[in-house]
Amino acid sequence: MTDYETILVERKGRVGLITLNRPKALNALNSRLMNEVVAAATGFDRDPEIGAMVITGSEKAFAAGADIKEMQENHFPDVYLDDWLGPWDRLGQLRKPVIAAVAGYALGGGCELAMLCDVLLAADTAKFGQPEIKLGVIPGIGGSQRLTRAIGKAKAMELCLTGRMMGAEEAERAGLVSRIVPAAELLADALATAETIAAMSLPAAVMMKESVNRAFETTLAEGVRFERRLFHAAFATADQKEGMAAFAEKRPPSFQNR
Ligand code: CAA
Repeated sequence: MTDYETILVERKGRVGLITLNRPKALNALNSRLMNEVVAAATGFDRDPEIGAMVITGSEKAFAAGADIKEMQENHFPDVYLDDWLGPWDRLGQLRKPVIAAVAGYALGGGCELAMLCDVLLAADTAKFGQPEIKLGVIPGIGGSQRLTRAIGKAKAMELCLTGRMMGAEEAERAGLVSRIVPAAELLADALATAETIAAMSLPAAVMMKESVNRAFETTLAEGVRFERRLFHAAFATADQKEGMAAFAEKRPPSFQNR
């Protein structure tokens, strides 16, 4: 799918940039937008010229959640049989690193979309929350799970049960975001961070992402074992030889992504 209506898709060197673009609805995540983001991100994931991605929104809103107007008349069989919102899971299965660059509201599905990414950069204007409780529902794209893993039970429980928003500083203190950036510099910083990642050996970056993510899925002993096997596998790449030779020869490495 290349005929996008709700997102802007650009290439910036080896970085794929996806900008959510439903400004009148504060980037509310309707079905079309969901399918377009998944298609664009999957396309970048398969593209050998791309090493990392950035997903961003507007100054006012990263995304104000799933589209309430679209889903308000749905009934259980509709959403259950369609596995409504299920396609978002595909973002969590991308192999290449994805940065969420969040300014303004990241609420409900917006917060969940940001948490589906690997690195979360926040503008000082960012506001995070899971306000679904105020609509008589609960999160549906992993919010109750990923927020709890990111910031712990007490804070996640309070935010989810009250629907309260937290600002960028509180989110950074709580461990939800990796850094806070002045709003005017958010996109440039996210693109520069993604370029840094995209300049690394792609097999090493994919192994790194897989290994860090394994920490959420398994025991410590199994996770360390998984990491050790991938570490061993890295010695089968030309990039390991190049990276270590470049260090010894005091020059920058030139990775071939193989
Ligand atoms: N769905 C559909 N439309 C939305 C929306 C959403 N989630 N969020 C905002 N909009 C629309 C508004 O209806 C409004 O449209 P109109 O101009 O046609 O009336 C437009 O965007 C601008 O919004 P506001 O006028 O409300 O802007 P504001 O600055 O006064 O308030 C806000 C901003 C606090 C973010 C407020 O819009 C809001 O509370 N939005 C809903 C947030 C929310 O509840 N998100 C969770 C959704 S459920 C979910 O996400 C489930 C899940 O886990 C997947």
